Amino acid sequence: MDYKSLINTSELPGHVAIIMDGNGRWAKEHNKPRIFGHKNGVLSVRSVVEGAGEIGLKYLTLYAFSTENWNRPKVEVTALMQLLVATISKEVSTLNKNNVRLLTIGDIESLPGNCEKELEKAKEKTKNNTGLNLVLALSYSSKTEIVNTVKAIAKDVSEAKIGLDEINDTLIDDYLETATIQDPELLIRTSGEYRISNFLLWQIAYSELYFTDKLWPDFTKDDLFEAIVNYQKRERRFGMTSEQLTN
Ligand code: IPE
Ligand code: IPE
Ligand code: MG
Repeated sequence: MDYKSLINTSELPGHVAIIMDGNGRWAKEHNKPRIFGHKNGVLSVRSVVEGAGEIGLKYLTLYAFSTENWNRPKVEVTALMQLLVATISKEVSTLNKNNVRLLTIGDIESLPGNCEKELEKAKEKTKNNTGLNLVLALSYSSKTEIVNTVKAIAKDVSEAKIGLDEINDTLIDDYLETATIQDPELLIRTSGEYRISNFLLWQIAYSELYFTDKLWPDFTKDDLFEAIVNYQKRERRFGMTSEQLTN
């Protein structure tokens, strides 16, 4: 099915976020070590980023490594970090060619020094690009992000920079790491798991959720297009009635 041609480009979601899951199971299915799955997962990232650029998506956030993922076996964590460095340094010229700006959320400073350096370099090199904003969530925990936000707000209140009455939805948005990024309209999770795993809890309050059984390394831009077509068929009511929306 040619899902791309079915997309209504005048009503694209402004931000799609993806929980890329299933690399390990994919490797197991191929009788290979888990890192083989992660390596093939990079090909899916490439395809999806390309697809996002093709349709003119503004924001794509990819959950690449959670705070909880630090608890995996050391060999896997090390291999993932190496893969991250290698991928970023290899792909940065392609990102520039495709006018993609790289951003990150998460505790980047907790990554190995060379990862952090490579990421900062790539962000700097792509900062003037005006096409797709590719946001990598790395060492990311939504609860930690919220804790940090609460602390920062409390500090500014205690220093009388803001008043208690000024605290509202929008102010909280502005203190989050995602301050400059609109909330995702669509959240995709692969691999048949139906959970959020500490990802963008505040930001997905009204996101449309899309779950697919496909394991991440099998996911391509066509699957992204299919998810967007599915999203565009939904009625987003935001608490109202269907009649209110159509009148
Ligand atoms: C997602 O795939 C990649 C990361 C979380 C880094 P997994 O590695 O979680 O794959 P499964 O869930 O074990 O199949
Ligand atoms: C979520 O996947 C994190 C990323 C995709 C980076 P996990 O595989 O770590 O999630 P759980 O442990 O199954 O919830
Ligand atoms: Mg997983």
